[in-house]
This record gives sequence, structure tokens and C-alpha cells, in this order.
Amino acid sequence: MTIVAFYSKGTSIEVQNTWSKRLKFYYPSLKLVPLLSEEAKFATVALLWKAPLNYLNKMTRIKGLISLGQGVDHILNGNLIPENIPVVRIVDPYMAKSMSHWVLLSILNIIRDTYGYFSQENTKIYKPRDEKNFLSLKIGVYGIGAIGSVVAKDLSYMGFNVQGWSRTKKKIKTITCLSGSEGFQALITNSDIHVCLLPLTPSTENIFNKHKFINMKKGSCFINAGRGEHVDENHLLDSCRSGHISNAVLDVYRNEPLPKNHPFWKQDNIRLWPHVAAETNPETAAKQIANAIKCLDNNIVPPNTVDRTLGY
Ligand code: NAP
Ligand code: GLV
Repeated sequence: MTIVAFYSKGTSIEVQNTWSKRLKFYYPSLKLVPLLSEEAKFATVALLWKAPLNYLNKMTRIKGLISLGQGVDHILNGNLIPENIPVVRIVDPYMAKSMSHWVLLSILNIIRDTYGYFSQENTKIYKPRDEKNFLSLKIGVYGIGAIGSVVAKDLSYMGFNVQGWSRTKKKIKTITCLSGSEGFQALITNSDIHVCLLPLTPSTENIFNKHKFINMKKGSCFINAGRGEHVDENHLLDSCRSGHISNAVLDVYRNEPLPKNHPFWKQDNIRLWPHVAAETNPETAAKQIANAIKCLDNNIVPPNTVDRTLGY
């Protein structure tokens, strides 16, 4: 029997039961136990989302950690996990498509002026509003990995002019691929719509700050589904207040849930989502997680083990 410790912040016991059922389908000899239970000390694998990592200290048999999401910053932040413990992440095409839908929705809401039409509906005004010519817009996607590359390709397929940025140089048909600090600067100054899909690491923290917002074109739109820590929130707020950034759409924040007294709630040109752009789906992700558990059990390095030197 393989004991797997489970913790997913903010979710119910029903969610744990759903995971248990799905994982057992692929790996019947597995037992999912709550991270905070006594039994967790016998766990060889932990399946985690935003867990209190100090609980891992009691697990003397632990062979590896698996993130319940595509990002691993919630495990690696603070450097608490020894280098010899593999950290595995989910890479699920379902999540990439889900993100693609959310980014497209966010862009369309802005360029087709959804909120303007909703307000007209309230006052029974039947009148066309200004529409942006999508051919004249440049979309910059920061991070063109498992998720960003799908988003960039889908946007390009929808007729948008897309440029993408990554650490290593990429070649993707129909996308202008840039890398390095020159590439970043080009995206900042050329794009009309900025989409952040980066992982959070020491090199990407606060990457969007006042110097970057000032260099963006006046009237730019900023969309963030990476992590809240990519953005200096006060600087974004100032840029939205002045109108230099015309619209922001955010799914992630430095503090989640977003505190009730956060000034973002009162800023009309900032649209807020509660970290749901691409949720982990037990239906589609369980197979690869079960496989990762099996690999760790057998001392095999699982697919999608993160590179600890890069931090993603
Ligand atoms: P990924 O496959 O690791 O891709 C990351 C991309 O970012 C890669 O293109 C990588 O470049 C690039 N990158 C990383 N560090 C960089 C740097 N310093 N400079 C330039 N480019 C850099 O990650 P993913 O699976 O696409 O996920 C990305 C992030 O999305 C996650 O870490 C998470 O924070 C976020 N996410 C959010 C949600 C949500 O619901 N809001 C859902 C899932 C994921 P290379 O290709 O050269 O390595
Ligand atoms: C969600 O934010 C994820 O990292 O999967």
C-alpha cells in the first residue's frame, strides 16, 4: 500500500474523495490520507496545493512531492524542500486549453466592449459602441511554455498578431518568438495587450513594475494569470488610475483570497477573477499523477519533474 499525503488549500473533503477515487482507478494500491492526519507520517508521496510545508518534516519516508497545479512556486518558495526530493508538476493539455479560453474571453471582453454593452442593456440603450480593429493590435504573451504556447497559437489562429517571450529561444509557426532582455523590452514597448503566463521564480518576481508599465504603450491592456508576485500591485493600480493602462484583467494576486479592503476591488478598469483561469481537473490530471506516484514508488524520476536550478 502506498500512502499519499494530500492537502489542497481551500477545498473540501469531497475534493479529496474525488481525487482518491480517480487516483485509485489508475493505481489501486494507493491510499490518500490528509496531510494533517497521524497516518501521513507513513507517506512516501505528498500531493499538495499551498500546503503548510512544515508538516512534511514528520514524513521520514518521503520520496517526492507532486504539485496539484502546473505551478510549483507554492512548494519551492522559501527553499524548504531538500534538493534530493523530486518535485513534480502537472502538465495537462486540458488546463492549457482552459487558459486559452480565459485569455481569449478577457481579450474579447475588452476589444468588443462587453461591459459597455452590459451597461447599455441596463438603461435600454440600443446603440453600437466603438470597436477596436483586431488586426492592428499586437498581443504579447510572456511565457510560452506548456500553457503560453497553446494560448499564443490559439490567439494567432483567431487572427491576432501574437508575439511570445521565453527564457530560451523558441520557433513557433505564426508567432514572433523573442527571448532575453532585448526580447522582453520589445514586447513591453510593442504590445497593445500584455498577457503574463510566466512561472514565479526569483528571476520573474516583480517583473511588471512601474518602469515596465511606463514603457508600455498608452492605453495598453494588462492580463495576468501567472502569479500575483509577478506584479507590483501598487504600480499597476497607479497605471490603471492614470489610464496609462486602460484595462487590467487579473486572476492571481499577492494575497489570495484577495483581501476585502484591497484597492483593486474599487478600480473600475481592473477586472477580477478568483484564481480560476485554468483549474486543475481530476478527470484529466489523475492519470499522470498516478503515474508520477508509481514512478516515485519505484525510484524512477517521473515526467514533469521540475528543474530545481531554474525553479519551474
Ligand atoms: P512552463 O511550461 O514551465 O512554461 C513557462 C514559460 O515561461 C516557458 O516558456 C519559460 O521559458 C518561460 N520563462 C520562465 N522563466 C523565464 C524567464 N526568467 N525569462 C523568460 N521566460 C521565462 O509553465 P506552464 O505550465 O506554462 O505554466 C506557467 C505558469 O502559469 C505556472 O507556473 C503558473 O504560475 C501559471 N498558471 C496559472 C493558472 C491559473 O489558473 N491562473 C493555471 C495554471 C498555471 P522556456 O520555455 O525557455 O523554459
Ligand atoms: C494554478 O495556478 C496552477 O499553477 O496550476
